[in-house]
Amino acid sequence: MNTFNKLIGHTFLGFMLSGAAIAAPDIAAGKEGAGMCFSCHGAEGNSKRSNFPSLAGQKPAYLVNQLRAFRDGQRKNGMMQNMTSKLSNADINNLAAYFASLDYKSVGGDSAAAEIGKSKANMCFGCHGMGAIGTGVTPRLAGQHPAYLNRQLHAFKDGSRDNGPMRGIAGMLSDEDINAVTEYMGSLK
Ligand code: HEC
Ligand code: HEC
Repeated sequence: MNTFNKLIGHTFLGFMLSGAAIAAPDIAAGKEGAGMCFSCHGAEGNSKRSNFPSLAGQKPAYLVNQLRAFRDGQRKNGMMQNMTSKLSNADINNLAAYFASLDYKSVGGDSAAAEIGKSKANMCFGCHGMGAIGTGVTPRLAGQHPAYLNRQLHAFKDGSRDNGPMRGIAGMLSDEDINAVTEYMGSLK
């Protein structure tokens, strides 16, 4: 092999190795692991109960972050810490890609409260995207269970869920604001 061919050969090998290291998530493998999530999070990630957030159509990078945070103990919840304790990073990427690929069904919100909450929502769209559909590591709030969102805002506010920007934002909201803005978010399609 002359030097030129060697160089080309190494370059190709390099591509192949870096390709393997950042393997694309495998949605089919994620689906196989997801059966055990449905009992709480609903069939195909559309939860029927407000104790459990819907996962369908959530942003994949956000799901990856949360699953890692539960597993590594940064986000505290006994059920989710158990569920994630044995997941590898690859398992997490696959589960996230699977749930992100599903269609979500908006759960709806109380329309009178939503009308009041609308005025607070503009300060959320900058990060959560127009219509709160989520972007990157910032979650979709549109169509999520209002009672779940409400609990999370209180958890940010009292510091039991840690996140820089959200602690500050939640701290600026009264209990009435939180009730109203979460009903508004739930009502979005
Ligand atoms: C025994 C019930 C239960 C099972 C089974 C379960 N979860 Fe959860 N999950 C919860 C609860 C409760 C929460 C809300 C935690 C909180 O309030 O902070 C949650 C939250 C989450 C969140 C955070 C969502 C968000 O919007 O921040 C993700 C992601 C998640 N679960 C993924 C999964 C996956 C993936 C599986 C299957 C491998 C799974 N869960 C199985 C109960 C469960
Ligand atoms: C400066 C950017 C920013 C702004 C503005 C912002 N958020 Fe967030 N929000 C985030 C990020 C980032 C996360 C993800 C936190 C994490 O990874 O734990 C988040 C998470 C949340 C969650 C948790 C959702 C879940 O599925 O668990 C709720 C609820 C929430 N935000 C509500 C709001 C509301 C309501 C507003 C407007 C009043 C708002 N946010 C404004 C950045 C922001």
